[in-house]
Amino acid sequence: MRGVILAGGVGTRLLPMTRVTNKHLLPVYDRPMIYYPLQQLVHAGVRDILVVTGGEHAGDFLKLLRNGQEFGLEHLRYAYQDGEGGIADALRLAEFFAAGEPVVVILGDNLFQDPLAPVIDAFRRDPTGAQLLLKSVEDPERFGVATVEGDRVVRIVEKPRSPETSLAVTGCYLFDARVFEIIRTLEPSARGELEITDVNNRYLEWGALRHHELSGWWTDAGTVPSLHRAADLVAADRGNVVLTRTHPAGG
Ligand code: DAU
Repeated sequence: MRGVILAGGVGTRLLPMTRVTNKHLLPVYDRPMIYYPLQQLVHAGVRDILVVTGGEHAGDFLKLLRNGQEFGLEHLRYAYQDGEGGIADALRLAEFFAAGEPVVVILGDNLFQDPLAPVIDAFRRDPTGAQLLLKSVEDPERFGVATVEGDRVVRIVEKPRSPETSLAVTGCYLFDARVFEIIRTLEPSARGELEITDVNNRYLEWGALRHHELSGWWTDAGTVPSLHRAADLVAADRGNVVLTRTHPAGG
């Protein structure tokens, strides 16, 4: 299983902070945002990790993360996304790295309270199709929203004006190698991006989409209110194993 952290995009919603560095390097409580997805992957035993970034401050990732030794890694890989063509466009750059293996993808601005290790382990045992993590939220219109009937996701709509449910599709996705074939067939959406929701809907059409509903908290951190909320959630949750046990300082 290979891990991919998507940390491209320009971060306009966090200006002026993102004028001087990349959004994913901004602090969330006591560490840079990107540490959270990275620590999740390391904690789940993922050792081959690619960070996809972009923009003017891409070099700052190297300064901060270097080769990942502080996280117990032997190496870290990097890819550069030109422009911000969307999440699926950024993931496209991971095809060579994945080399036919399944991938666990985490958006660089997503924080999960619970360890993702059990879900990643389950996908390691049965690495076919796609697996989504869903979470009920108060503002589903900001996210991809899933409709579940029985034990199946039957529809996913990206940022619906009137969401059918409160179930947000969180930014952790597990895919088999067909994901890269799907990305090659995508057309840009109305907002000019290759959408991860279109990828997930393709797996859904194939009857190859599984899901799991999270019990712990989940948040993104890509807007001023959600960045603030993320720091509050972490501050209130200092005992969480994924936030502490793999911390480079051993905290
Ligand atoms: O946070 C979960 C949500 O993330 C999902 O529910 C949505 O379905 C999904 O589309 C996405 O929504 P956002 O519109 O909030 O995504 P955003 O543009 O903020 O990008 C999230 C992360 O993805 C960002 O921190 C870095 C990465 N990204 C994004 C874009 C547009 C890239 O690496 N490259 C990109 O071009």
